[in-house]
Amino acid sequence: MKVDVYEKVWMGIAAVLIVVFLGAIIIAAGAQAIHPPSHQETINPEEVYDSEEFGSTGVEIQEDGSARVTMVTEMFFFDPDEVVVPVGKPVTFRITSPDVIHGILVAGTNANAMVIPGYVTEFTITFPKAGEYLMMCHEYCGTLHHEMQGLVIVEEEDA
Ligand code: CUA
Repeated sequence: MKVDVYEKVWMGIAAVLIVVFLGAIIIAAGAQAIHPPSHQETINPEEVYDSEEFGSTGVEIQEDGSARVTMVTEMFFFDPDEVVVPVGKPVTFRITSPDVIHGILVAGTNANAMVIPGYVTEFTITFPKAGEYLMMCHEYCGTLHHEMQGLVIVEEEDA
């Protein structure tokens, strides 16, 4: 069987491309802050506010200075809609929804996740710069979806 020289060249180029693309995915996943879905935890959406964790939402500062944000997304607001977290420390968001699918996007950061009823969304982000970051819902959730927004206030520790 004779393989045309051009065919060989194109096969070679295709093989190199596959290696480059796979390499890009592996490098992005491993070395950069790209988080493929990795966390799965379920919760009864009808019992969100009765649950021990989501019965009281808000920010909790841990002993090591990191923060934990317990949040509920609902038509059409974030509860709480304003969170104050420390700069330069890991901030773990734990969010669930009692009604429909919402999303959370913190503008100017890579915090970007869906919030699905029945599941707990968890991600951790470290804000490198103090300031005010708009957070918004990025999954269409109803007529007032566009008004569903809040604020993440990142403060210096001694502020
Ligand atoms: Cu919540 Cu869109």
